[in-house]
Amino acid sequence: MSKGLNRFAILVACATFFLIIAGALVTSHDAGLATSDWPLSNGQVFPKMVGNLFWEHGHRMVATTVGLLTIALMIYVLRREKRSWVRKLGVFALLAVIAQGLLGGLTVKLMLPLAVSAAHATLAQLFFCTTVSLAVFTSPSWMEARPLPLEEKGILPLRYLCTAALVTIFVQLILGATLRHSATWDHDLPTDLVLTHVGGALAVTIVLGIAATTTLRRHKGQTFLTHPAIFALSLLVVQLFLGLAAYVTRLQSPKDPQPLNPMIGITVAHVACGALVFATTIVLTLRTYKVLPASGDALDFAASPQES
Ligand code: HEM
Ligand code: HEM
Repeated sequence: MSKGLNRFAILVACATFFLIIAGALVTSHDAGLATSDWPLSNGQVFPKMVGNLFWEHGHRMVATTVGLLTIALMIYVLRREKRSWVRKLGVFALLAVIAQGLLGGLTVKLMLPLAVSAAHATLAQLFFCTTVSLAVFTSPSWMEARPLPLEEKGILPLRYLCTAALVTIFVQLILGATLRHSATWDHDLPTDLVLTHVGGALAVTIVLGIAATTTLRRHKGQTFLTHPAIFALSLLVVQLFLGLAAYVTRLQSPKDPQPLNPMIGITVAHVACGALVFATTIVLTLRTYKVLPASGDALDFAASPQES
């Protein structure tokens, strides 16, 4: 176990979260086309950071830093890590950040088409989830966790409930990205997409609510599982309020002379909190797979001491 590797993986995950906020600020300021140039900005590596170029080029600089950190993380993982699946995840993280950078360039070159912008927003969440998973897999709590007694026969294994919550949240993130990139601040959001996204919010509330409360009921006192469950539930409540607030401010925004701070702040917070709901549910799900084997013969991640 390398404490340094774990700390570095946590740093990369935090930097990626910051990058998601920086990206969301580009969208909310409607600054995606502050320059139609890529990979340079207006033919320069360091253009004057004025107007919307501050957000757009600033996002590129943060993305470059995260790209470099991801290269370093992959090298660190390949040098220090023995588990082959963690090594593969380190390589995957680098491929994901490269693909994300190319999608970012493509969305600029193609003038922000819905499909490319929404794919860029969605892959950002997947990349964040990869860095969070690397931080989880290299943590001392993961290495030290031991399998809990088998769950009672006949009840639905918690790992399946958590996986269902994870998939539902991911679909909701795609719906949110499609909604967000369907209309800039000066246009009304399409009603059918708003209703679909609200339906998705209801589905997430039900499935994540069941997964988290089941965790709290079945595993009282086992903080390895209850802590991420409590975090996920609390963030879900915040996210629902932010969603409602985002909707209200977006109703007003087409009448505004430019994107205004309340709308910018709330929509960016909604994107960021969506990423946190996803991340905490990933931590919960991975941990259920680690300590709660579905059946005696399938220990998955917890297979053997070297493979832990
Ligand atoms: C490498 C890692 C990158 C990550 C994780 C990332 C992440 C993000 C995120 C989360 C958003 C906000 C999406 C939303 O609010 O719906 C965004 C927007 C954006 N990103 Fe990136 N980005 C990366 C790299 C790049 C690069 C290299 C460029 C190059 C131009 C770029 C260009 C853009 C643009 C133009 C937008 C605004 C899109 C719009 O308003 O439709 N991104 N990015
Ligand atoms: C489970 C709860 C929810 C989750 C996980 C969630 C997630 C998201 C995400 C991640 C985005 C932006 C995606 C991106 O561009 O990267 C988004 C956009 C949006 N969501 Fe939600 N959402 C939830 C609930 C709600 C609710 C209850 C509403 C209320 C109507 C709502 C209203 C909106 C609106 C209006 C946007 C577009 C904001 C804009 O135009 O900038 N969301 N959602």
